[in-house]
Parts: sequence; structure tokens; C-alpha cells
Amino acid sequence: MRKIRTLRSQLIAWLAVPLLVLWSLSTVVDYDVARRFVDLAYDRQLLEAALDIGRQVKVADNRIYVDLPEVALQMLQTREIDRLYYLVTGPENEFITGEPDLPALSDPTTDRVRYYDEEYRGQLIRAVAVRVPVQPGSARGAVMIHVAERLTIRADSARQLIFGMVLPQALLVFATALAVWYGVGRGLKPLASLRQEIESRSHRDLSALPEAQAPNEVQPLIRAMNDLLARLSAALASQQRFIADAAHQLRTPLAGIKTQTELALRNAQSDEVQATLRQLHTATEQTTRLVNQLLSLARAEPGARREHATEPLDLGALARNTTTEWVPRALERNIDLGFDGPDAAVKIDGNAFLLKELLNNVLDNAIRYTQRGGQVTVRVVPDTRTVKLAVEDTGPGIPARERERVFERFYRLLGGGSEGCGLGLAIVREIAQSHGAEITLDAGPNGVGTAVQIAFPRAT
Ligand SMILES: Nc1ncnc2c1ncn2[C@@H]1O[C@H](COP(=O)(O)OP(=O)(O)OP(=O)(O)O)[C@@H](O)[C@H]1O
Ligand SMILES: [Mg+2]
Repeated sequence: MRKIRTLRSQLIAWLAVPLLVLWSLSTVVDYDVARRFVDLAYDRQLLEAALDIGRQVKVADNRIYVDLPEVALQMLQTREIDRLYYLVTGPENEFITGEPDLPALSDPTTDRVRYYDEEYRGQLIRAVAVRVPVQPGSARGAVMIHVAERLTIRADSARQLIFGMVLPQALLVFATALAVWYGVGRGLKPLASLRQEIESRSHRDLSALPEAQAPNEVQPLIRAMNDLLARLSAALASQQRFIADAAHQLRTPLAGIKTQTELALRNAQSDEVQATLRQLHTATEQTTRLVNQLLSLARAEPGARREHATEPLDLGALARNTTTEWVPRALERNIDLGFDGPDAAVKIDGNAFLLKELLNNVLDNAIRYTQRGGQVTVRVVPDTRTVKLAVEDTGPGIPARERERVFERFYRLLGGGSEGCGLGLAIVREIAQSHGAEITLDAGPNGVGTAVQIAFPRAT
């Protein structure tokens, strides 16, 4: 399976994975730090409570007791967070007050304050032991005050603290990912417009892509692409030049063969030789046509465009003149050739040589394929934005499913006779496209025959 990797998802992955790792690490560290602070605060509270009790140690009749008022006791046992346990033992380790079973510090110490962890009634506790002298200065020894609380409440507090920190951090990570997502989209905008530019191009446009509006990182890519386009265009041009040159070179020997054949025909005695020579003559004529069509196509193709600059010209006049040139051919075939166009000039930007070539090919088809006695009409119809050039005939027509294919090179309809070589409409399409014109093939008026319509953009 092929992984589809977008720049966006890659960037998100490169950013989100380290962020998530950092986030987890910081959560662990944060928890540790929170635990320390919570411990410190709670330990201090324990100590405070122990010192409070210590202040109430009294001696009466040689008996040590703790004079805890009822209120203070209640405060110790019903604290909001959790109750405190306490135990006070005398200098001989004798029980004075509190919970007798509270684990006291096992090794009596000389430290004034000692913290320790123990287990009490099935739960872990944290306790403080404070040594308080019974009567300062006297040799009566000291009482030990133990105050304890369950450990779980500290974990709870630390957890609450950590939630308060980690949740905003998670939001931050999420917001960062979102910002990157959006930012990358914005950053890639110039690439999208570049894509549009390339997509909307026709195959004939090999001009350089705009470099300026692309981000710096992309410019080398565009430069490389432009370089390739330039080389491609040069290669294409040289190929077309080769075809054009070859076709041109073939014309002279072909003309020679034709002349020689005609001479031989005149002098030939036997019928057999006459027949062979006539076939040779027809073949030579067909080959000459093929060579001429190849030359036209090579001239019409994109690479050769530079040799044919466009200029504003009158399409009406051009069509009228070209049609007039075809009148003798039409008369030969007894075809009624007509022209219908406006008297005023209709300007388009075009190349007269190529446009004439285009009309010649369409007219050649119309007159060649229409039966004797038929009609062919050339129309020039100016519109607001376009000028339409149409050639209608009353011939056999082109079946709808073939209307796309007849534009292909060397494609001919079956049973259409053997004269053509199948390049005419390919030439027509090339020339129309190079003029930015749209070409449509339809049935003629009343569904009879063929109508070729070419809509040229009007010159501004
Ligand atoms: N006006 C038309 N009426 C009927 N069929 C047509 C018409 N124009 C073209 N065709 C059909 O389309 C085919 C392709 O036309 P195209 O002009 O490309 O080639 P061609 O006429 O055969 O050869 P050439 O290169 O000599 O013009 C023709 O062979 C013909 O069958
Ligand atoms: Mg033709």
C-alpha cells in the first residue's frame, strides 16, 4: 500500500510527536515537583498541630498531662481535609493521651523534630514526632508528641494540582497543532495557485511559469521546471523543423517524378504500360498531397508558432477571398459554393497564412466529400465576443460518434474514397487552438450534411 504523505501531515507529525513526548515528560516532572510542595505544606501543618499540642503540656501534682480544650480536640479530629491522629508519651515512654495504638517513633531520637512514614489501621500515614521538654530547665525529661495523617490525601492534592497544570498544557499542544495546520495551508497557497496555472494551460503553452510570487523555497523548483519547459520547447521545435525540412526536401523529387511520369504517359505505346504509368501518376499525386499536409501540420504545431506571429486581420475578407479561390474546384464537381458574411470588417487576432490553410482544409473536405450537385456555404457570423466561421455542406455527414476521432491524425472514415491522407482536420484543430478558437463539428441545417464551426475570440 502506498502511503500518501502530505507536507501538512508530515509537519504535524514532526511537531506533534516531540510535543507529546515533552508534554508527558513535563507531566512526570510537574507531578514530582507538585508532590514536593504538597509534602512540604502538609508537613508544616502537622508540625504546627504538634507544636500546638506541645504548648498545652502541663504538670500538676507531679503528673504530666495535656490540657487540650474541647474545641482544639474537635478541630484536630474533624479537619476539613482529613482527621489528624495524635499520641503523647511521657519521658518514660508512658502513654499520656491520644491514640494508644498510633505507631510511635521506634528509635528514640535526640532531634527535636522528626518526620516518618508508617502504617496505621491498614493505611499509610505520615507522622511527625516532636520532643518537648516538660519544664524547660528542670531535669524532668521530655514528652514526645506524635501527630499523623493519612498519606492518600497528599496524593489527592498533588493530583488536583497536576490536573490544573496538565490540562492547559494539553490545550496548548492541541492549539499549536491547529495553528501549524492552518499555517501550512496558508503557506502552501502560492503552490496551489501555481498548480492552477499549470492545470489551466494548454499543451501548446510551453512558456515559463511565473517565479516571482512563489516562496523562496519553491523558486528553484520553478526555475528547474522552466528550464525543462525551455528544453522541451526547443526539442519540439527541432522535431517540427525536421519534419518540415524532410517534407520540403521531398517536394522537389516528387515533382520530378510527376513530370517524368506525365512525359512517359504521353510516349507510352502499349495499354499495359499506360495503365501502370497512370497508377504511378496517381500515387505520386497522393504522396505529394501527403507531403504538403505534413508540411502544413508541422507549421501549425506549437513549436513552430514563433515563426507565425499574429496580427489584427479581417476574417470576413480572408474567408471571402479564400472561398472565391475554390469556385473552379466547386464548378468542376457541379457544387453550389456560396459565401455569406457581413460587409463591415470583422477583426480577429490571427495569422493570415495559417487561417487560409485552415479554411482550405475545411473547404477541401466539404467539396471533396459532398456529392455532385450539392451545396457548400461559408459563413462569417460576428457575435459580441466571438466571430464564428462556419462551413456547411449537404454531403454524407459525419456520424456523431466519429466527430471527435476525425480530428486525429491519419484518421479517415471507412468508405470515404482513397484520396485523402487523414491530416486535414488535425491541421484545422492545431490552427484553431493556436488562435484560441473553439471548434465544433455538427450535422448541417435540417440534420443534413456537415457543419464545421470555429469560434474565434474577437480582437479588442
Ligand atoms: N465535410 C465532410 N463530409 C463528410 N465527411 C467528412 C467531411 N470532412 C471530413 N470528413 C471525414 O473525416 C475524415 C477526416 O478528414 P480529414 O480532412 O482529416 O482527412 P482527409 O480529408 O481524409 O485527408 P486530407 O489530409 O487530405 O484532408 C475524412 O476522411 C472524411 O471521411
Ligand atoms: Mg481533408
